[in-house]
Amino acid sequence: MEYVIKKLIDEKTIQGEIDKVAEKINSDYAGKELHIVCILKGGVFFMCELTKRLSVPCTFDFMQISSYGDGTIGSDLVVKKDLDKSIEKKHVLIIEDIVDTGNTLDELISILAKQNPASLEIAALLDKPQRRNVSVTVKYSCLSVPNKFVVGCGLDYAEKHRNLPYVGYVEFKEH
Ligand code: IMP
Ligand code: MG
Repeated sequence: MEYVIKKLIDEKTIQGEIDKVAEKINSDYAGKELHIVCILKGGVFFMCELTKRLSVPCTFDFMQISSYGDGTIGSDLVVKKDLDKSIEKKHVLIIEDIVDTGNTLDELISILAKQNPASLEIAALLDKPQRRNVSVTVKYSCLSVPNKFVVGCGLDYAEKHRNLPYVGYVEFKEH
């Protein structure tokens, strides 16, 4: 189906919100080391923007996960790429592009919590609160978006548009 992308949040606004979240992380983790767990693929863009603003020492690992996609609570996650190293005793910050229903992060948190990290928090570039069906605590969230399908800043539609520097939404053309 044909579609257009409409701009929702401009680059400057996004950068400003990332600045604020980075400042908060720098103060919350002062004197500690942070272990970043970035969720592929969408989290990569936010990870780069956020972590270049951090003054606390960081190490990095990556996970790729997908759900069975039926959107129901408790649907199992498929781990496509697991962590390289143990997160035991580390201060872990999960970096994700968007929290939508919350299902993915809810399940991921329960998996990672079993590995005894020193602490475990979430940073997400976007939050779509209207769609939430399970409560997840996103300590570091930059921007809320309405209930639209958003792209850019790591988010894709059919694997495209991740590299847009702004957040847009997909609008389908009617014939
Ligand atoms: P959740 O499990 O429903 O919270 O959603 C998890 C994943 O769905 C996110 O990490 C995104 O990859 C994807 N997703 C949710 N909403 C959008 C959207 O509006 N645009 C692009 N991807 C999305
Ligand atoms: Mg994703």
